[in-house]
Amino acid sequence: MDAPMPPSASRISLNKHLFERAPDRLRHLILDIARAAKYIHYAIRTTEAGLAGSRNQFGEEQVKLDVLSNAIIEQHLRESRLVARYISEEQKDVVELSPEAPYSVVFDPLDGSSLVDVNFAIGSIFGVYEGEVIGKKPREQVAALYVIYGPRTVLVCSSGHGTHEFILNDVGEFILLREHLGIGDAAKVFAPGNLHAMVEDAPYRSLLEAWLQDNMSLRYSGCMVADVHHILSKGQGVFLYPGGPTYPEGKLRHVFECGPFAYLVDQAGGSSSDGAQSILEKEITAIDQRTPFIIGSKKEVERVCSFLGRV
Ligand code: AHG
Ligand code: MN
Ligand code: MN
Repeated sequence: MDAPMPPSASRISLNKHLFERAPDRLRHLILDIARAAKYIHYAIRTTEAGLAGSRNQFGEEQVKLDVLSNAIIEQHLRESRLVARYISEEQKDVVELSPEAPYSVVFDPLDGSSLVDVNFAIGSIFGVYEGEVIGKKPREQVAALYVIYGPRTVLVCSSGHGTHEFILNDVGEFILLREHLGIGDAAKVFAPGNLHAMVEDAPYRSLLEAWLQDNMSLRYSGCMVADVHHILSKGQGVFLYPGGPTYPEGKLRHVFECGPFAYLVDQAGGSSSDGAQSILEKEITAIDQRTPFIIGSKKEVERVCSFLGRV
């Protein structure tokens, strides 16, 4: 009898997968970003969960891991020599790296970082553009990806040929887990951000009533990466973070949070909106731009827009 094949022999690595789906330079950049994510994966398990004693450009308190993750990503982007500039949630200004390089990278180094201490899933979000970012639309990204650090560390990526999921294995390689994630038009779960806005917002309250009447289930963790990953993983659902009295434009950032997810969800057959227009078509006018955000199953995104009808 033949010896059994080692389990790794038939695996498809992120590198192999990208050979047919991205030009060489973009493939190398995505692999460099994935390598940074492995260091963040390690840092999460070994770094103290406390505050860094500083605030980011949005006035939010940074935890040590926000600062460390940002530094890890910067180092990998710098060493890649493929990145002309990057824009991070944790830094006020555009950071210039290699002026002649082809790409700009936008990122949220650690999304949901306030949940580190409670050991919920958190993530990193990345979008890649050719040339400048300001004045572009998220549709013009050439790739987007996120990494979710949960019980398992998973990377979800698109370079314009569908949205695909990879798992970090025990020897530190991202291996294809599921090809072509798909999102159906109808939703069975809802993830309602900025719930407090309901106090003054009757349409949002009516929407909640409609979800409950329809027997839909609540799935909200407080980390957008985890909440939208739920939709991509289960193939249905809706997530929203509308505006409200505290945050008229919502809280989420167009450039590094909403834009990359809009691209990934569109590639999986879902849609996104700010209530009036597709997030993919919404021009990036500033680094710190916020936007109301509705994303997931197409029909449910439409229903949310028609209920809220004012963003
Ligand atoms: P970050 O940790 O990068 O600041 O982002 C947190 C975001 C997002 O992940 C989540 O959907 C939202 O904040 C949660 O906001 P609430 O605390 O208002 O629910
Ligand atoms: Mn975030
Ligand atoms: Mn963050």
